[in-house]
Amino acid sequence: MELKILENIEIASNIYSLKIDNPALFDVVPGQFFMVKINGFDYPLLRRPFSVASFEDDHIGIIYKVVGEGTKILSDKKPGDFIDLLGPLGNGFGDVEKDKKILLVGGGIGIAPFIYLKNVLENDYKISYKAFFGFNTKDEIYIDFGEIATIDGSYGFEGNVVDMVENEIDNNSLIFACGPTIMLKRLAYLCYEKNCDMQVSLESRMACGIGVCLGCVIETNDKDFKRVCVDGPVFDYKDIAWQTL
Ligand SMILES: Cc1cc2nc3c(=O)[nH]c(=O)nc-3n(C[C@H](O)[C@H](O)[C@H](O)COP(=O)(O)OP(=O)(O)OC[C@H]3O[C@@H](n4cnc5c(N)ncnc54)[C@H](O)[C@@H]3O)c2cc1C
Ligand code: FES
Repeated sequence: MELKILENIEIASNIYSLKIDNPALFDVVPGQFFMVKINGFDYPLLRRPFSVASFEDDHIGIIYKVVGEGTKILSDKKPGDFIDLLGPLGNGFGDVEKDKKILLVGGGIGIAPFIYLKNVLENDYKISYKAFFGFNTKDEIYIDFGEIATIDGSYGFEGNVVDMVENEIDNNSLIFACGPTIMLKRLAYLCYEKNCDMQVSLESRMACGIGVCLGCVIETNDKDFKRVCVDGPVFDYKDIAWQTL
């Protein structure tokens, strides 16, 4: 579906906020994503996956980091240009048990879907939560809530987000997590130790986004394979064979 770009601005170092006209044809669960065709031309050929960072009556919001050719081209798009979106796709974050201690834990550009999740937790579930987010440096911070850790210590807690959140986690915690695989892996081992619950959104290179190409498969604990695009991207951490990632 071709949709009009309303805004495309740099909000932190190399991080952009893209707002697109909402056609009001569907609803979106936090953690779901769109496959975006960056150009009407052949290059880049493959669509790129981006999580939904906000979903309002008047716009769909994506926050993206420029890492390669596709995101560079995307950053040059102007309001009034059109891009083609496929979605919403995948399984987002699941049910929230209200008696649990809810923790949002994210790293880098993986924090983007938590902006939308925050709205849903506050407005639909009406429950409290704590948020812990990690960045490399303060120039990359693009959110205005939660406790912040930076690797270089330029803002907030000095170190990584898993070290910052560790003491908050107990066996009544329900964690929602998204970020670099190495961060999620450490969190998963910590969750096993503390016997808590965690829904984790995984990243994987995706070609089709609709379950056909098998380019995004991961191994599960029962020696099966799951496609991140249609079986995820959000999984119960206990289902994933972390040692293979
Ligand atoms: C479900 C899902 C949701 C995502 N949501 C967001 C989002 O909200 N915001 C955002 O900025 N990015 C998100 N990503 C990652 C995003 O899709 C990639 O950054 C993007 O496809 C890069 O395109 P490119 O053409 O600029 O980079 P390329 O030229 O394709 O690659 C440039 C560099 O980035 C690395 N890279 C590319 N894609 C990925 C990936 N999926 N995981 C790890 N490394 C990668 C490559 O290995 C290479 O080193 C998401 C990915 C998935 C699977
Ligand atoms: S990206 Fe093609 S099967 Fe998941």
